[in-house]
Amino acid sequence: MKQICVIGVGYVGLVTAACFSDLGNRVIALDISEERIEGLKRNEMPIYEPGLEELVDRNVSAGRLSFTTSYPEAMEKTEFAFIAVGTPSGVDGEADLRHVAAVARTIAEYMRTPLIIINKSTVPVGTGDWLAEIVSSNQARPVPFSVVSCPEFLREGSAISDFMNPHRTVLGSLDPEAAEKVAQLHLPLRAPIMLTDLRTAEMIKYASNAFLATKISFINEIANICEELGADIKEVSVGMGYDKRIGPFFLDAGLGYGGSCFPKDVKALAYMAADKGRHPQLLNAVMDINNDRRPMVVSRLKEMIGELDGCTIGLLGLSFKPNTDDMRDSPSVDVAKSLQEQGAKVRAFDPVAMKVAAPLLPGVEMTPDPYSMAEGCDAVLVITDWNEFKHLDLERIRDLMKQPVLFDGRNIYEPEKLRSLGFNYRGFGRGYNDHMLDAEFEQDVVVAPA
Ligand SMILES: NC(=O)c1ccc[n+]([C@@H]2O[C@H](COP(=O)([O-])OP(=O)(O)OC[C@H]3O[C@@H](n4cnc5c(N)ncnc54)[C@H](O)[C@@H]3O)[C@@H](O)[C@H]2O)c1
Repeated sequence: MKQICVIGVGYVGLVTAACFSDLGNRVIALDISEERIEGLKRNEMPIYEPGLEELVDRNVSAGRLSFTTSYPEAMEKTEFAFIAVGTPSGVDGEADLRHVAAVARTIAEYMRTPLIIINKSTVPVGTGDWLAEIVSSNQARPVPFSVVSCPEFLREGSAISDFMNPHRTVLGSLDPEAAEKVAQLHLPLRAPIMLTDLRTAEMIKYASNAFLATKISFINEIANICEELGADIKEVSVGMGYDKRIGPFFLDAGLGYGGSCFPKDVKALAYMAADKGRHPQLLNAVMDINNDRRPMVVSRLKEMIGELDGCTIGLLGLSFKPNTDDMRDSPSVDVAKSLQEQGAKVRAFDPVAMKVAAPLLPGVEMTPDPYSMAEGCDAVLVITDWNEFKHLDLERIRDLMKQPVLFDGRNIYEPEKLRSLGFNYRGFGRGYNDHMLDAEFEQDVVVAPA
């Protein structure tokens, strides 16, 4: 049984702590937030993540998982200290490392026995070396330690399954013995383990997120072109995805990426490049395309219903993606704000995010279910592709609305079906399906003279 401490009990840290304890280790999870730790001691989760409450409860009951705000207590017998604190965007797009720095200084103050510090937070390339310097210069007395980078690839909404069944574990260190010990911790996960140096491991995380964001912006650009030329982006994605070199994932056109990772990580990588005098053209284009998606929804809506002043608009979904309550950089916030600025009244429903969303969306009326949300609406916007929205009673929604106008920001419905139900429906890039006048495209075909 290894002694592990996980610092930060957010989306990554709490899942890491619960999963490592489930693998049979003794884990103490630490956070500076008294509220979070007191709640966890009562088995109240600070975040929504499917399956987490049961996993935490089981491991606390088995005596393998405990919670504290005390660094001296957490450091007392720890062999491995995982850092999983936030690294938000700074003012110029750089990663703000103040939480990582604070953790490094406090670890240095309280460590008494040799320690392996493992960084799971997404941090700029070079942070591992910087972290080692902070620890050694703040130690009360010299105690040996090593730094290992272990970037996290889990996704909110499926975090436990992602942690337990990773595609790979990447470990970066300049101390092969420490990396080997951390590799041993990950062996039960039966995934390929890649050992590399610190900076390369840190870059693998940024490059992976930037690539996935690129796929999303790429398909959104293709969706824009589909709209003009009459092709259907949903089918284009399927047709592309069969090609093993491309793969079917992250090819869903829509409102674009949001959340706590892609926006800040692409920005931070572009910042790192620019800081070294490089011109990150592709990353800049990925961000530009993504930034256009939110205003585009509002302008599409205006094409459908005219001026928004005095209208009531319903939002289906608030979180940045399904199965999470995470509202960080969710498109719903920008879209709601823009609708309100143009004089619309906004109402919303989300299966789990409304409590977190309410303070971020002043003036937005939260409703108990999708049907009360639709009541009296001039239009409904799909913001989040929650599965339960795919199975709504759409005839009931239609009858409750003032006029049956639906803009599908995630392309979850089939245009023909919605139109047959009497909806004025549009999605992103649905080609013929998005335009009532198919003839518009037929006229475009240029035939070479015989
Ligand atoms: N959320 C994701 O899906 C995801 C996925 C992969 C990687 N990451 C990366 O993991 C890191 C953590 O992300 P998150 O979403 O879990 O963050 P989060 O904001 O949900 O949680 C961070 C936690 O750290 C705590 N904290 C802050 N300073 C502290 C300190 N000095 N000592 C102890 N605790 C402290 C906060 O109170 C909070 O509970 C980030 O770098 C992020 O980029 C996140």
